Amino acid sequence: MENILNMPKHVTIIMDGNGRWAQSRGKERIFGHYEGAESVRACVEYAVEHKIPYLSLFAFSEENWNRPQAEVSELMSLMAKSIFDEMSTFARYNVRFMVLGNRAHLSDSLNRDIDMAMEKTASNTGLTLIVFLSYSGKWDIEQAAVKFAKAGAPEGRFQEFLVTSAIPDPDLLIRTSGEQRISNYLLWQCAYTEFYFTPVLWPDFRKDEFEAALIEYSNRQRRFGKTAEQLQNEDQQTK
Ligand code: IPE
Ligand code: IPE
Ligand code: MG
Repeated sequence: MENILNMPKHVTIIMDGNGRWAQSRGKERIFGHYEGAESVRACVEYAVEHKIPYLSLFAFSEENWNRPQAEVSELMSLMAKSIFDEMSTFARYNVRFMVLGNRAHLSDSLNRDIDMAMEKTASNTGLTLIVFLSYSGKWDIEQAAVKFAKAGAPEGRFQEFLVTSAIPDPDLLIRTSGEQRISNYLLWQCAYTEFYFTPVLWPDFRKDEFEAALIEYSNRQRRFGKTAEQLQNEDQQTK
């Protein structure tokens, strides 16, 4: 492994391309989702091994409810199955598991499974793994706006009302499958996130691909509105 000098604190991934992966092999789309679950496992392991504090995954958008009913219910069963299958992994790696999104749209049974997994892992202190389920960025901003107004909170405190209030904004966003769009994901939170797009389909995205993204990230200069010269001076002062 290359020595990556500048590791992100929070990596988020739009896991895309499962359907195309399966269809290119003459299989049903669901095969791609199952194979994609293996990529999740690989990336979680990589994050644990390299002590990345936060890994979040876009698993299902609010718009994905508009897919054919059969695919939606297969995806929901896969989610429940994965939670049960991975409980031992969470314990072994000390992973804190969280689901964020519009939970009101999920079934009672899936909500119970999620609550169980979140409660059991709540005090784990290793990787925080966040799965965005039934999530959309516009929904998040709207629900936050309602709460913000009700609370009469002052300017500057808006982010406290987003569902992501307890986690840092992503440093790096990866999207697989060649699409170069954000598809209503973390709209507010990606204000200063570095984007990495790769043509690799999600079921083929394993540790080597993850590492390639991290190497590219570590070579980027994040300026947050300042000039490169200012950053150089600040860097010298801290040395
Ligand atoms: C990503 O893969 C998984 C979900 C959106 C649930 P897709 O199912 O979108 O795969 P493609 O984009 O059709 O290949
Ligand atoms: C984005 O993928 C959502 C997830 C990966 C969960 P989509 O496949 O739904 O995105 P679009 O429709 O191509 O933008
Ligand atoms: Mg897709």
